[in-house]
Amino acid sequence: MTFKPADWPRRLRSQEWYGGTSRDVIYHRGWLKNQGYPDDLFDGRPIIGVLNTWSDLTPCNGHLRELVEKVKAGIWEAGGFPVEVPVFSASENTFRPTAMMFRNLAALSIEEQIRGQPVDGCVLLVGCDKTTPSLLMAAASCDLPSIVVTGGPMLNGYFQGERVGSGTHLWRFSEAVKAGEMTQEEFLEAEQSMSRSTGTCNTMGTASTMASMAEALGMALSGNAAIPAVDSRRRVMAQLSGRRIVQMVKDDLKPSDVMTRPAFENAIRTNGAIGGSTNAVVHLLAIAGRVGLDLTLDDWDRCGRDVATIVNLLPSGEYLMEEFFYAGGLPVVLRQLGEDGLLHRDALTVSGGTIWDEVREARNWNSDVIRPVAQALTPQGGIAVLKGNLAPKGAVLKPSAASPHLMQHRGRAVVFEDIDDYKARIGDEALEIDETCVMVLKNCGPKGYPGMAEVGNMGLPPKILRKGITDMVRISDARMSGTAYGTVILHTSPEAAAGGPLAVVRTGDMIEIDVAARRLHLDISEQELQTRLSAWQPVHETPPSGYAWLHQAHVEGADTGADLDFLKGCRGAPVGKDSH
Ligand code: FES
Repeated sequence: MTFKPADWPRRLRSQEWYGGTSRDVIYHRGWLKNQGYPDDLFDGRPIIGVLNTWSDLTPCNGHLRELVEKVKAGIWEAGGFPVEVPVFSASENTFRPTAMMFRNLAALSIEEQIRGQPVDGCVLLVGCDKTTPSLLMAAASCDLPSIVVTGGPMLNGYFQGERVGSGTHLWRFSEAVKAGEMTQEEFLEAEQSMSRSTGTCNTMGTASTMASMAEALGMALSGNAAIPAVDSRRRVMAQLSGRRIVQMVKDDLKPSDVMTRPAFENAIRTNGAIGGSTNAVVHLLAIAGRVGLDLTLDDWDRCGRDVATIVNLLPSGEYLMEEFFYAGGLPVVLRQLGEDGLLHRDALTVSGGTIWDEVREARNWNSDVIRPVAQALTPQGGIAVLKGNLAPKGAVLKPSAASPHLMQHRGRAVVFEDIDDYKARIGDEALEIDETCVMVLKNCGPKGYPGMAEVGNMGLPPKILRKGITDMVRISDARMSGTAYGTVILHTSPEAAAGGPLAVVRTGDMIEIDVAARRLHLDISEQELQTRLSAWQPVHETPPSGYAWLHQAHVEGADTGADLDFLKGCRGAPVGKDSH
């Protein structure tokens, strides 16, 4: 693909606020000068909004307050004018009921912060799970030149000589405590070892996945995703990205030029190769919706199906992001995809060149961390999209994190009506359940929870864990943490709270899954299914007011990205009327 830069110099949108001698301009410019900016900064140079998701309550992004200074330095060096803008920061580990409920609110508020303010381009300074997609959604809706800089992953954790990965080992240790294999004291001792430095989760969880998605989409400079948060090269990357955005504004290189259908297909295949999080499915569908692309679950299945998982990282494999960086990081993976005919080589990136230009020389320095395809973790990675009478609009499963012996299975349903029901009964020794059963969790989808919490990887009953069993088939309309694992079928659509078939599954029904055939079947007659569906009544009340009401009223299904229906599409960044 060839990109034709716009003519330069030209009048930028920020000049609508700051260029000229009118009363309104003097009002805007004079006010900003109270920060001590000299007059020549308002001469028509690009004004770059550095959208910073730093927050004390988003610890994964806690270091962005320092990293932003390197971004600003790069912008100054390239002749731009940086303005730092704090934006909504939806932290994965603090927000209740779940950060996912606020991804769309963040995207909505940030979109308006971009559109309503005098910026010509944006640096998206992100990290924690929801911060990356929410800013990408906002940038896509406004379509001003934008570049992603992620904060980078934490250093490896270690406990009792073993590599400890964020999230993944929390689930493992907690199951070990329930199974009597670890003491509570050891669990508490392990706590600090899980978060050894600043940065995002160090597994191939959702944050690392979304950093990789941003790079594979072409929205970040090559190599951005894997650099550890505390590595000096992370700071270099921030500075180079600051320099680059200024030229992007001059060239008018916009998100819609970069995030094209080939770019999304590259990202989907990359997700398969890295063993990325199932959360990437809802986020990429939502981002695509903001650029007006009709990306579907079928695209996920079609593009990802034949991609081998070659990145040996937890939760699917054994290493962590630090080792992935030392091995060469995402460029090595993209090069491999390109050599296997699985990459649209001419997709444009924020560099102004093609993605192939960026990765064709990448070298693999550790072939156990980034495996050759012949030694892949899973020959068919990607995301499997299952359909059937239990999920007419689809459900997803991550084969690389699942147990091979459960990929074709028939079992008796043990149903939990919602997460409270699950918590109340899962530890009951009298619960009629064994390892052949299928655990079913309802009412945890976008409308149901509300917000589609990461509760789909339900912990197994203690009595089964004590037998040494570590996996069972689990089905829900919820999501799963990218750091989690197991034979877990997620995002079942339509969700139970919207009256999908999941809502009428009963304990004792038989359920069949066949991942190879992409089938998810509730073994009751069509007549019985329709009788149950017509008798279904919603079990949750609609919130009376506030954002929860807005979310409940307008959120769409997981099969299309769980965005708010009125936010889909690109609305651009027209300069509005002045109010003075
Ligand atoms: Fe924030 Fe994992 S919880 S990056």
